[in-house]
Amino acid sequence: MCGIVGYVGPRPSQDILLAGLARLEYRGYDSAGIAVIDDAGDLGMRKKAGKLAVLRDSLADAALPDGSTGIGHTRWATHGGPTDVNAHPHLADDGKLAVIHNGIIENFSALRAELADAGVTFLSETDTEVAAALLGQEYRRTGDLATAFQAVVNRLEGAFTLLAMHQDQPGLVVGARRNSPLVIGLGEGENFLGSDVAAFVEHTRNALAIGQDQIVAITPSAVTVTDFEGNAVEAQPFEVSWDAAAAEKGGWSSFMAKEVAEQPEAVANTIRGRVQEGQVIIPELEGLDSLFLGIDRVIITACGTASYAALVGKYAIEQWARVPVDVELAHEFRYRDPVIGDDTLVISISQSGETMDTLMAVKYARERGARTLSVCNTQGATIPRESDAVVYTHAGPEVAVASTKAFSAQITALLLLGLHMGRVRGTHVDATAEVAELQSLPDKVSWVLKNEQEHVSQLAGWMADTRSVLFLGRHVGYPIALEGALKLKEISYIHAEGFAAGELKHGPIALIEAGQPVFVLVPSPRHSALIHSKVVSNIQEIRARGARVIVVAEEGDAAVLPFADEVIRIPLAGALFEPLLAVVPLQIFAMALATAKGLDVDQPRNLAKSVTVE
Ligand code: F6R
Repeated sequence: MCGIVGYVGPRPSQDILLAGLARLEYRGYDSAGIAVIDDAGDLGMRKKAGKLAVLRDSLADAALPDGSTGIGHTRWATHGGPTDVNAHPHLADDGKLAVIHNGIIENFSALRAELADAGVTFLSETDTEVAAALLGQEYRRTGDLATAFQAVVNRLEGAFTLLAMHQDQPGLVVGARRNSPLVIGLGEGENFLGSDVAAFVEHTRNALAIGQDQIVAITPSAVTVTDFEGNAVEAQPFEVSWDAAAAEKGGWSSFMAKEVAEQPEAVANTIRGRVQEGQVIIPELEGLDSLFLGIDRVIITACGTASYAALVGKYAIEQWARVPVDVELAHEFRYRDPVIGDDTLVISISQSGETMDTLMAVKYARERGARTLSVCNTQGATIPRESDAVVYTHAGPEVAVASTKAFSAQITALLLLGLHMGRVRGTHVDATAEVAELQSLPDKVSWVLKNEQEHVSQLAGWMADTRSVLFLGRHVGYPIALEGALKLKEISYIHAEGFAAGELKHGPIALIEAGQPVFVLVPSPRHSALIHSKVVSNIQEIRARGARVIVVAEEGDAAVLPFADEVIRIPLAGALFEPLLAVVPLQIFAMALATAKGLDVDQPRNLAKSVTVE
């Protein structure tokens, strides 16, 4: 949600800002704007409701004088609708100062009332304009942007990334963060700020991560970071491991299509470097055995798709590390009084590493003394920095709003983590067979993509008018049923539900009527003849009531044939590894159905890639 970019350097900034905002589009937004201090020293600003193209058209119709200090913003509306006026930047000090913001300023009503009493009139309904007005006031009092900025951030409550510049101090952009993302890009004679590295990765891969409650000031030649009291702090340098091309669509019809196809690579990259002599040893966790010893419970917390990866992780960690695992939606976790303490390990999963609900759950867990580990895809993100340890998924940048390759990489990382924990805890010391399974996965995922893409896409094409689809699974097939339903809902806007197949007779079977499409994820009979036979019985039950049954089953499973309208095949894999194969046809199905309906699969309505507000 909301994309932020800042630039100071020798080059005209408008194209840099617009390109940065384009790279942040994936985060989700409904208006966009830029402000630039031009070469004459005047601050110009343009902002428009709608997509970046609307802003670009406006700039093409009436140019904004260019200059080499600028800030840009894409806004996902919270306070006030997506209008030109509510879009950022917001101006103060008679239009000489510009502010952009991501997050929610929780005390904005009180501040707004105070400013209104002091005679300030507001143009927008946003909380951001309040921060801008406060900054204007402080600037007039102090005459220095950095000093004024420090005073203002100390008055704000809530979550925010804030960037500001003043026309009387060209060549300077200041920023601050509290619970919202901000990273610094270090160039040669130029510097950048961004919500994430995508904002500047085409210019530099040298970055600095800044911590909570810190302020940064960038000029073309210097970067200074302080805490909110003004004490110098050291920012953590890191090199961005992917290049700009990785976040390009290339020849693909959509980012989602590209990312679905990249799954073999995402899985392989997540495994790489973590297997030694047939055992799983995660180098980032070396010296951190104490995280896993003496614990009596694991809680995995996450939202959405990541929470379904967590459910698969539960099965893996319980099986190999022999410790009870609960999966908790992050937004439910801290609003009760969970039983956690220093013998609890809280694992968070987040592609973006910025999901506010998950971040708050991690902070809450730490406050309560729990040990924390995050599984994350984004370097420099907040959640890993708030955790005792991190296991990165190496899926590369995920741009499409609907998560696909990050999900596969999360499951892979959790399988690795389960085996790592099993070795450390002495509960599963020989992982030779599982390592072989893991290493065969990339080829098996490729097999599904190669052999089932056309079949599943055709099926989706025939079903474009479908109004509701159900998904059933058992064991690790259950989270995949949930994920299949979520993918379909979010990009094709079709009603979809995932159920544990065993729940069917406890209610959901009432939904079955003639022609109702139901995907059934059938586990291999080799793992458990009992579970397999139960699922086959479920298929018969829904078939008898007129359902149109689409089965995802391993190659050679003939038992499903008499009862299935369609069979989608996946290769043979170990029980805990099957989810990585079974999810692929469901992703393809959702994508093909949305495409058949003429929808934008990369940017579905109302959704943001990074949910940075609660
Ligand atoms: C669905 C989807 C979301 C995210 C969720 C958590 O396709 O992408 O459900 O999984 O918002 O996001 P992260 O993983 O960034 O914390």
